[in-house]
Amino acid sequence: MKEKKLSAAEIKKLREEYLLPSTMTYFSSPLTIVRGEMQYVFDDGGKKYLDAFGAVVTISVGHCHPDIIPAVVEQVKTLQHMTTLYFHPTIAIYAQKLAGVMPKGLKVSFFTNSGCEANELAAILAKNHTGQSEFLALRHSFHGRTLMAMSLTGQSAWRHSLPYVFGVSHVPAGYCYRCPYRITYPSCDLVCARQAEEIIKYSTSGKIAGFIAEPIQGFGGVVCPPKEYFGIVYEIVRKYGGLCIADEVQTGFGRTGDRMWGIEQWGCVPDIIAMAKGIGNGVPLGAVTTTRAIAESMRGKVHFNTYGGNPVSMTQGLGVLEVIEKYNYAHNAKVMGNALIKGLKALQEKHRLIGEVRGMGLMLGVELVRDRATKEPAPKETLKIMDLCKERGVLLGKGAMAGNVIRIKPPLCITGADVDHILKALDESLTVIENADKA
Ligand SMILES: Cc1ncc(COP(=O)(O)O)c(C=O)c1O
Repeated sequence: MKEKKLSAAEIKKLREEYLLPSTMTYFSSPLTIVRGEMQYVFDDGGKKYLDAFGAVVTISVGHCHPDIIPAVVEQVKTLQHMTTLYFHPTIAIYAQKLAGVMPKGLKVSFFTNSGCEANELAAILAKNHTGQSEFLALRHSFHGRTLMAMSLTGQSAWRHSLPYVFGVSHVPAGYCYRCPYRITYPSCDLVCARQAEEIIKYSTSGKIAGFIAEPIQGFGGVVCPPKEYFGIVYEIVRKYGGLCIADEVQTGFGRTGDRMWGIEQWGCVPDIIAMAKGIGNGVPLGAVTTTRAIAESMRGKVHFNTYGGNPVSMTQGLGVLEVIEKYNYAHNAKVMGNALIKGLKALQEKHRLIGEVRGMGLMLGVELVRDRATKEPAPKETLKIMDLCKERGVLLGKGAMAGNVIRIKPPLCITGADVDHILKALDESLTVIENADKA
């Protein structure tokens, strides 16, 4: 079956008629992407773009990676699906391989189709293991679109399905640029993290099932906490009997540089890791990995999904892990990330719109403000910059409650030339906007 050619106007008409109206698009004029090749994608007119948002942080090792695709094509031709009710070698091999890259003690996995499904299962595991049902999550967090995931999410724009799952309380994130207490790190003594104890004492029954958090928040606008933040919260959570769940849907698989998991950057070991996006590099794959003891709490209880662990996704997942090792992509994320941070900080000196540059590895955010003194968010300018960078062949993402953080999260295979391209596109786009403001 050959791909049908449709104009953007035709696609728009069909989408409006047949897709849920909440389906969103990026850019003032939506882009039709028809092909991908490592860190690049191509539109229907053949124009090449650097995918500096990695198809929403999902393309970890590169679009259609040539080391991975032949095995996946072969698997598609041989057997696409049979469910875990039957034996297949790849799920067993892959689960073992995944256990080999996990933090110490985490080795038992269940495969899902998405990040929200992984977070749901993480919550079920925590409830089963602790016998408790209340959770702590973070403000500014995003955990997906199922009801539990939406309830854990800490942003009003992403919570619109009342009533929520009850028993979720939100702790202030380590968002120093917009500290809710208007105090400064490190003399603040991390009041935000210590609030976890107050919240457990005053807003819960005093006993919790767990705490879920992204080690660096994604949709929340690349909120990157002080290094002590997670250590403090994890200690409090464990004191009250809860399990610590790391939502590594965006930060996993080397994205934060040198380490496989974002939470490792903070020197913490979680009890459960939920993952998706980068694990599959473009196929619907997620997973939850935990300790043998926690996994045992599910013994005797049926848990099943139709597509989780299917041979095609397992083959792709195996390929992703192999190329991360082979090409040392986690280290490349660190090197390219450092070069980007240096370049972005230089742009901050030059452009008054940049309020803060933050993040780690290739999980970077640039917060745009209309005025550095008041920190008034600049969401309109953010959208303009995305359009202007698109014209210059660079696709960027956005995030934060106010939609004023540019997100730079390209595939981990980018080169120094790509870094230069991103910085040049941003520099030119910021200049265009600032000149227009002056005129
Ligand atoms: C941190 C985080 N957790 C969970 C999810 C939900 O993943 P999915 O869209 O695969 O359900 C996302 C999606 O963007 C995410 O960024």
